[in-house]
Amino acid sequence: MQAAIHPFFDPATRTVTYVVYQAGRRECAIIDSVLDYDPKSGRTSTTSADKVIAFVREHELRVEWILETHAHADHLSAAPYLKRQLGGRIAIGQNIRRVQGVFKKLFNVEPEFRLDGSQFDHLFEDSETFAIGGLTGKAIHVPGHTPADMAYQIGDSVFVGDTLFMPDVGTARCDFPGGDAHELYRSIHKLLDLPSDTRLFMCHDYPPEGRGPAWETTVRAEREGNIHVHNGVDEDQFVATRQARDATLAMPTLILPSVQVNIRAGEFPPPEANGVRYLKIPLNAI
Ligand SMILES: [Fe+2]
Repeated sequence: MQAAIHPFFDPATRTVTYVVYQAGRRECAIIDSVLDYDPKSGRTSTTSADKVIAFVREHELRVEWILETHAHADHLSAAPYLKRQLGGRIAIGQNIRRVQGVFKKLFNVEPEFRLDGSQFDHLFEDSETFAIGGLTGKAIHVPGHTPADMAYQIGDSVFVGDTLFMPDVGTARCDFPGGDAHELYRSIHKLLDLPSDTRLFMCHDYPPEGRGPAWETTVRAEREGNIHVHNGVDEDQFVATRQARDATLAMPTLILPSVQVNIRAGEFPPPEANGVRYLKIPLNAI
């Protein structure tokens, strides 16, 4: 079944947020929302999320799901803000518990912070199905970038998270804690085994010089032209390419703020005795 898809591209983090629904029905899902964050001042703002809210209200949609493909390392999630404004259930892959374990240690998070994913309303298992009105969704576990990555197949489209990027950009990095290029190769092949006309929607785009941002492609186009995993590239070749590229990449600007917030389903850390909430910077730890 054809899903109606409205993208919102955030130029600051190059993230694409999607509202997904079925034309003629009110139920919708929001995928990978962005809370704007200025690292210079430590200020958050809701300009990006408010555009999503305006679209949902204007089209009289009812939010059933607020989906995260993974705990992002490049932007803060606006999921709790969207939930307070619009309702819906915040969901992510069940392996978020492993990611929470890694970062609870790194940030020496308060002892009461639970490692059971209970900060989210729902944790998806691999292949679990869910409904958005008349559309059927399926969560597909696609680890590699992080252990918890999920892709969401909804109607005739798949929201791939951080696995594939546009064919001329390649694939997601695998050098964060718990990342694994071998796993990413196998996860990507789960997606490339889908019918060749399947529409694929990216989580990010980092366009090369000379083209503007893009986020939609197909299984066929990825198989034929993805610079890292086109037809004929085997697992060992892919892993060598991926690891060589990862060795050249700096950490994302917002990795430390993002992860601390996103393992809490987008909530900020609890306030300290003076009423202020803080993010931490671990020194020489990543
Ligand atoms: Fe990511």
